[in-house]
Amino acid sequence: MSAVPPTLSLLFILLTLSPITSSHSPTTCIIGSGIGGASVAHFLRHYSHSGPIHIFERNDVVGGRMATVTIAGDTFEAGASILHPKNYHAVNYTKLLKLKAKSDESDESVSLGIWNGKEFVFKTIEISSRFSIIRSIVGFVNSVRMLVRYGFALFKMNQFVEVTVDSFLKYYQALESRPIFGTVEEMLKWAGLYNLTTRTLHEELTDAGLSSLLIDELATVITRINYGQSVSISGLAGAVSLAGSGGGLWAVEGGNWQMAAGLINRSDVALHMSEEIESISYTRSAYELNSTRGNSYKCDVTVVATPLDELDISFNPVISIPDRKLQHTHATFIRGLWNPAYFGFNYVTDIPELVGTIESSDLPFTCISILKKHSEKDMTYKMFSRQPMTDVLLDQIFSARNETIRIDWGAYPHYHSPEKFAPFMLDDIHLYYVNAFENAASTMETSAVAAENIARLIISRSSSKPLSISSDPATSGSIISELHSDL
Ligand SMILES: Cc1cc2nc3c(=O)[nH]c(=O)nc-3n(C[C@H](O)[C@H](O)[C@H](O)COP(=O)(O)OP(=O)(O)OC[C@H]3O[C@@H](n4cnc5c(N)ncnc54)[C@H](O)[C@@H]3O)c2cc1C
Ligand SMILES: *[C@@H]1O[C@H](CO)[C@@H](O)[C@H](O)[C@H]1NC(C)=O
Ligand SMILES: *[C@@H]1O[C@H](CO)[C@@H](O)[C@H](O)[C@H]1NC(C)=O
Ligand SMILES: *[C@@H]1O[C@H](CO)[C@@H](O)[C@H](O)[C@H]1NC(C)=O
Ligand SMILES: *[C@@H]1O[C@H](CO)[C@@H](O)[C@H](O)[C@H]1NC(C)=O
Ligand SMILES: *[C@@H]1O[C@H](CO)[C@@H](O)[C@H](O)[C@H]1NC(C)=O
Repeated sequence: MSAVPPTLSLLFILLTLSPITSSHSPTTCIIGSGIGGASVAHFLRHYSHSGPIHIFERNDVVGGRMATVTIAGDTFEAGASILHPKNYHAVNYTKLLKLKAKSDESDESVSLGIWNGKEFVFKTIEISSRFSIIRSIVGFVNSVRMLVRYGFALFKMNQFVEVTVDSFLKYYQALESRPIFGTVEEMLKWAGLYNLTTRTLHEELTDAGLSSLLIDELATVITRINYGQSVSISGLAGAVSLAGSGGGLWAVEGGNWQMAAGLINRSDVALHMSEEIESISYTRSAYELNSTRGNSYKCDVTVVATPLDELDISFNPVISIPDRKLQHTHATFIRGLWNPAYFGFNYVTDIPELVGTIESSDLPFTCISILKKHSEKDMTYKMFSRQPMTDVLLDQIFSARNETIRIDWGAYPHYHSPEKFAPFMLDDIHLYYVNAFENAASTMETSAVAAENIARLIISRSSSKPLSISSDPATSGSIISELHSDL
């Protein structure tokens, strides 16, 4: 067969390598309707990106790991439940979408106990929080018992968290002073957070002067609740986890998933529900996405907004990312009554309302909390464990069980130090990966922050002509040219 004429092959190379030009508005396809995918769509529109946006969601609901569960007529968060007061994207989404925030300012208090499998090594009288699996360091610190057991190192733990949260706030700086990041490492280094991913939380807290009692008990209880893992997670994931135990925590009334639903609704998105993408192939200068429904979509830009670790999407050409294991958290919801004898007590009222646990191989669960007291003998509980809870085990812990719901979450990465990161750009063209950032920490807000960066990355790499993809040059031209000046 005759060879392709040189000019044609050159043209072909130019076509495949050239950025998406203004000759047509680029079609963007996003896989996943969680907070990450919804945020990419939102920020693409916010920074004046025209062109169709498709979101594919394999489930029949949007929101991903933000989901509610209804047990005996009451609805509770089943996955991501709490937000930090400085989660500014979530704060803005809530305002923008006219959702209601329910905050942690309540007179109701909750008692905390640390269970080692045989006895409670520690019990507070009360910590003030209405949220179920909520642990207020502020409340803790104010607790005399807490101070007696752990000493003033509690304040050093607080300090460690505050310094980290302050560094994270750099991601909310104005566009002019905030670069677009091509890699997770670069993004973390810029904010001064990278080093925290190279050491364990245990090492960081030891260096910060915390006693091993505080690390092995309180800090461990918190990392187990938030990430299902021990203090051997990275310092950064650990700091984020501990930050989820401060004051002022909040949630979206009616369910955090409404943030994703609302963002998608107002971003002019073609939403494809119950449609799972099974292959992504780059052919003839576009991505071809095939779904389990037998449909095929052409996309100029493709964004993976879900962890790839347990998916078998086939990529052509193949991509390579570091191995990552997801930590599975089994969430079990129970309507009934727990059994005081299991905890060595005579009365139900002796059991702390939040039971945290230390790291021990013979503990069958990570935490149990009361979500709602219907009466003294009828309550709704939420329980986390690393393994599924068997009926036999539940029947030991609960004396009455009218309803049980089990959810197995591929919850968040299994954290290590030093942490390895997948790239934001899965190829040299326009295939992006929001959840590469989850190795830093996995929260609703970190997904939004990573998504905002990806949206800027897409816009800056999609056109050599700054204004060509802007629908309203008067207002948005400056933003896009600034995006370019940053690269
Ligand atoms: C039990 C639990 C508790 C948590 N607690 C908190 C908390 O209190 N606060 C907090 O901030 N964070 C918490 N998190 C973490 C938080 O839920 C996540 O970090 C965040 O929701 C991730 O959002 P995402 O959009 O990146 O991914 P996801 O929410 O996982 O969204 C990915 C979506 O992609 C879809 N999908 C996957 N593959 C395909 C495919 N091939 N085709 C089409 N669609 C596909 C999935 O169905 C899913 O809807 C918790 C997580 C769990 C599991
Ligand atoms: C939130 O909204 C306010 C007001 O519109 C804006 O000034 C601020 O930059 C926004 N914050 C983030 C993180 O986007
Ligand atoms: C991170 O660690 C490197 C190497 O140990 C060091 O040079 C650098 O100053 C540290 N950065 C921060 C922000 O602590
Ligand atoms: C979508 O937004 C419109 C207003 O912009 C609102 O009327 C409608 O209820 C919203 N739909 C959903 C499903 O949120
Ligand atoms: C995707 O679907 C198209 C059209 O049905 C088909 O030609 C193509 O081979 C499929 N690609 C993959 C990787 O299955
Ligand atoms: C369980 O259900 C039975 C029958 O409906 C009811 O009488 C009982 O009060 C319930 N108990 C609890 C703990 O919910």
